[in-house]
Amino acid sequence: MSTQITGLGYLGIQSPHAARWKEYGPRVLGMQLAEEGEDGIVRLRVDDRAHRLAVHPGEPEGHAYAGWELPHAEAFADAVERVEKAGVSTSAATAAELAQRRVRAMVHFRDPDGFRHELFYGQEGKALSFHPGRPHRGFVTGEHGLGHLAVGVRDLETTRRFYLEVLGFSVTDEMDAHFRILFLHTNPRHHSVAAVEAPNAGLFHLMLQARGLDDVGFALDHCEALGVPVRRTLGRHPNDRTVSCYLGTPSGFDIEFGWGSIDVVPGENVTTVEKTASMWGHKQLTPSSCLPPI
Ligand SMILES: [Fe+2]
Repeated sequence: MSTQITGLGYLGIQSPHAARWKEYGPRVLGMQLAEEGEDGIVRLRVDDRAHRLAVHPGEPEGHAYAGWELPHAEAFADAVERVEKAGVSTSAATAAELAQRRVRAMVHFRDPDGFRHELFYGQEGKALSFHPGRPHRGFVTGEHGLGHLAVGVRDLETTRRFYLEVLGFSVTDEMDAHFRILFLHTNPRHHSVAAVEAPNAGLFHLMLQARGLDDVGFALDHCEALGVPVRRTLGRHPNDRTVSCYLGTPSGFDIEFGWGSIDVVPGENVTTVEKTASMWGHKQLTPSSCLPPI
């Protein structure tokens, strides 16, 4: 039975500025605001899933959880067993957490830097229900998952062991630029996690991939109109070939909004080490921020 995680399913953050996402998500990124529940959580959609980003109102501002998807109940059970066998104890979700995440089953545990990871299967969805918040060709999700996370970690080798042995990821490639970065995949997306060796642990950015380059261009125009800081100009990364810009958010981390990423073939990838982070562009305009784990 496969224990392979199929991708990043959802991301949860906690923020005192949750309400600002109601405008930011749809207007800047083209997300859809999901129907509001009584729990006050701002839920944002990028496809037919119930939601992909959940912003929980509250303090302190922080990275709350990353949800990793398993394809079905049997794979979920096997993946939980692998995590336990690797010496990481898991806790089962409460009924309230399952209702919040809109999933059938979920367990959670912490990584060596204190990030909360969740394994789940069976997220609610509704066919042909996604309507972008502004004219938009849509987001690349499906077998690629939601996108990728770039996280600051204290020790790259500890992180490598965690993702390979506990979560079953594979290394795509590495980068020795200003920082040492490890790129990890679990599906055709070039990487679902970029682990950056840094003094502080935290979430640097969530990368979302638009179907059209124009969707990224329009985001830059909307940032200007709404006074949203652009952290880095349009540029292209040498390894995943993504053309992207980095945008500030209401909650202390960035969105890398990209287009044109290349895929990997899991099991056939050859690891290389890049010496530069960008082929062109990505000029820093305003300092990036970092969302610590709660
Ligand atoms: Fe990235």
